[in-house]
Amino acid sequence: MASRSGQPSWKRTALLGLVSLGCLLQPAAAVKESDFKKCDHSGFCNRNRKYADNAISQGSSFISPYEIIPESASFRDGQLEAVILKTINDQEETVRLPITVSFLESGTARVTVDEERRQKKDIELRHNSRARKERYNEVEKLAIVGGLTLDSNARLAHQDKSHITVKYGPSSSFEAVIKLSPFGIEFKRDGATHVKLNDRGLLNVEHWRPKVEPAAPVHPPPDGDDQQQPLDAEPPPVETREDETSWWDEFFGGNTDTKPRGPESVALDISFVGYEHVYGIPEHASSLSLKETRGGEGQYTDPYRLYNADVFEYVLDSPMTLYGSIPFMQAHKKNSSVGVFWLNAAETWVDITKAKASSNPLAIGSKTTTNTHWMSESGLLDVFVFLGPTPHEITKDYSQLTGTTTMPQEFAIGYHQCRWNYISDDDVKDVDRRMDRYQIPYDVIWLDLEYTDDRKFFTWDAHMFKDPIAMGEKLQESKRQLVVLIDPHIKNKEGYSVFTELKANELAVRNKDDNMYDGWCWPGSSHWVDCFNPKAIEWWATLFKYDKFQGTLENTFIWNDMNEPSVFNGPEVTMPKDNLHFGGWEHRDVHNVNGMTFHNATFQALLSRKANELRRPFVLTRSFYAGSQRFGAMWTGDNQADWGHLAASLPMILNQGIAGFPFGGSDVGGFFGNPEAELLTRWYQAGAFFPFFRAHAHIDARRREPYLLSEPYRGIVTAAVRLRYSLLPAWYTAFFHAHRDGSPIVRPMFWTHPSEEAGFAVDDQLFLGSTGLLHKPVVEKDTESVDMFIPDDEVYYDYFTYRLLPTAKGKRVTVAAPLDRTGLLMRGGHIVPRRDTPRRSAQLMRFDDYTLVVAVNKAGTAEGELYVDDGDSYDYEGGQFIHRAFRLDTANGGSITSVDAQGRDTKAIQPGAWLKAMDAVHVDKVIVVGAPAAAWKNKAEVTVQSGAETWTAPVKYYAAEQGRAAFAVIGRVGARIGEDWTVKLA
Ligand code: NOJ
Repeated sequence: MASRSGQPSWKRTALLGLVSLGCLLQPAAAVKESDFKKCDHSGFCNRNRKYADNAISQGSSFISPYEIIPESASFRDGQLEAVILKTINDQEETVRLPITVSFLESGTARVTVDEERRQKKDIELRHNSRARKERYNEVEKLAIVGGLTLDSNARLAHQDKSHITVKYGPSSSFEAVIKLSPFGIEFKRDGATHVKLNDRGLLNVEHWRPKVEPAAPVHPPPDGDDQQQPLDAEPPPVETREDETSWWDEFFGGNTDTKPRGPESVALDISFVGYEHVYGIPEHASSLSLKETRGGEGQYTDPYRLYNADVFEYVLDSPMTLYGSIPFMQAHKKNSSVGVFWLNAAETWVDITKAKASSNPLAIGSKTTTNTHWMSESGLLDVFVFLGPTPHEITKDYSQLTGTTTMPQEFAIGYHQCRWNYISDDDVKDVDRRMDRYQIPYDVIWLDLEYTDDRKFFTWDAHMFKDPIAMGEKLQESKRQLVVLIDPHIKNKEGYSVFTELKANELAVRNKDDNMYDGWCWPGSSHWVDCFNPKAIEWWATLFKYDKFQGTLENTFIWNDMNEPSVFNGPEVTMPKDNLHFGGWEHRDVHNVNGMTFHNATFQALLSRKANELRRPFVLTRSFYAGSQRFGAMWTGDNQADWGHLAASLPMILNQGIAGFPFGGSDVGGFFGNPEAELLTRWYQAGAFFPFFRAHAHIDARRREPYLLSEPYRGIVTAAVRLRYSLLPAWYTAFFHAHRDGSPIVRPMFWTHPSEEAGFAVDDQLFLGSTGLLHKPVVEKDTESVDMFIPDDEVYYDYFTYRLLPTAKGKRVTVAAPLDRTGLLMRGGHIVPRRDTPRRSAQLMRFDDYTLVVAVNKAGTAEGELYVDDGDSYDYEGGQFIHRAFRLDTANGGSITSVDAQGRDTKAIQPGAWLKAMDAVHVDKVIVVGAPAAAWKNKAEVTVQSGAETWTAPVKYYAAEQGRAAFAVIGRVGARIGEDWTVKLA
């Protein structure tokens, strides 16, 4: 619940709760949805939806008022430039909108539309505003890191007064057919249309116009009367034909947005011809395959909203906005994926409708076309179109633009123990000791808000944390880390050096009157560091130096929270849109990328903590945008300890992977409330398969560290965490793939099996990287089995029992999942690297030997990979890594081989300290599941050959019985993990 001032009640509870422990146990309450806008409350969303309704209701008699001037079009070096004319005022006037269509080497096309008058700053601002006059055109600088090289092979194939056709992409198989009047573009692949822009005529670029000010002053209406023009305002001039109601000052929840540039939204319809499924545009607590948003049974009535906000205890199955936004969407049908990236950082809404074949005769070969309608409040219209055709190609092309997942610190993919709050250094040491006593591995313990002195970041509560250095050193003994919270709001307090420096250097966000913006957050009155300012990033870095942020050590890392930004007394719990950022841009223009600028600043700061110390930072963020994957991990915010939120984690995390930011997870156990032991246990089992695996709890929640559970829960949770640790080599390899080409770390069925239609909407199970490990956790109470969808005709084995499952392509198979197990299958044909010795932390496992688990496929073969590096530095960029490709082959009596996966001559690499140490690391066991009796039955040993040496290793064979597959275990193999070797069966 929220107060009138907009401060959520749980936050107030938390503030008070610290003073009065008596009020800590508050019942959880769901988000007050009315604190956040629906499309109806948002002027530009409402206007564009009405525009769409009007256009659609007119059918073919509606003509979009946008046309390219034929003479303005010129094509050069992979780029088409022209001017679109928008006709207004009953054909009497036109507005000039320069358009650029760029064809990129990757095969991606980009369409950018600006407004000439604003470009030339030929507009007047209202309210004496000091904001910039242009449409915001700098999000590219923050989001895009490459892939913009123009395709010199793109060529003009046709040009006349009605159409321009450009051929581009691989072997010129892509085509953009640009219709001049009314303007529209069709994107074709191999002659077939896949994506259409403005086909439904919903393009709308709200041009600048002056406001005819009413004579009487305008007062905001009372709370709740949002969007209504004050009664005392003058009626619009008679000659104004459009409804101006929401053009100028806009009111919501007692706040007024002054809109100095008036209405300036951009909107466009994008149709995916013949595509039934669309995915992406996180972050929403919704299904992976996105729903329709214009009503209908089981569908939404509001568009998906992208406007980063602190929506605690969010509702499930909703298009409501959450903490982060990635305006990337992928459409998929059998054997074809396409996508779009809408590069705009302002508030955005996306309507989705699906037209069945009967009403859409153009959708040849497929039942449905998905129509989308994108609406952003300000900025350029800037859209990238990807033509695939595979999901993997879409992922690669998108990640060329916005970058890939940063290679993580190795510890970061282990288990994280967090709560709000570990209250003292003794508390931290106690948790650390008890995790060890119960032999539960973990890598990182987290300190939430209360470690600070009075919510002043970069300080410690000296009473509760008497010796943070000793605490950090204690953690270091078991190679563990500490993460501390640093938020973007800085307490407004004289004498607090961070505040003083922020103020003196003028590095804070400013309000519309160009004074330092003052809002309310955890510390009370606060200011916000403006990370759009390069000087602010430089200054921010100084705060993290070890001598400045005293009490931190090399094993201290950072958590960035509240960076939407959350402002308790701001409109929709965030900053006023008419606030000003560096360069004079309004907050309205940059809101969705704001969180990423802060995340980036912290990432840069950790990179430069100490001269000559170049280590990978670890920074968790709550708010994000396209490109945030370059700076660390995200989590899904303030969920609840209930089964619904556990289930919702899966589609949310899968969708993060589709949108290029796969390093994510949900608060294990649920943030609000107290999970029963069964729920907590099931959440750990699910969390062990989230890329980011962290337990967290609200300050009001009872303590729930895993060792506090009674048996059998404690043992089962311990086993789940240990399972994660034994599979860390597979996880790290999956992260490497995400880093290399943007591949999701956990993958949905449509991504791994793009031709299996029955799997396109499946979002409750996942593949871990390319390991063939298929996981489906239990997300319902009192449930002892899971029905798993099988996407192909391969064999599948139960991971825990080696049972061969009676699977069939496109069908579901029931897998036993009593409390101590989850649905975890091994797809035949994969080799999975593991480390089987349980240890206290990931780093303590660094030089352990490996186990390879081979799941034999129908053809009797299998393949797998292992990527490993020092897990800490950037030395891998200079070749200091091991990347092996393993293969089980049937030829010549059978063999298992390991070669360098990149075909390198590894002997030629000058090994650094880590690579040298890896010389002592071997393959210990090889377990062959589904081992054919003919090859293995009577085998007592195999020959291992590596370099000039040959030796034997013992084999134990277990014949198939009672549904369990046969398997063989090769004992101490003894081959060096970094070297080529062959195990010969014959
Ligand atoms: C909000 C975050 O979402 C939550 O995880 C954290 O515990 C609180 N802020 C307090 O810092």
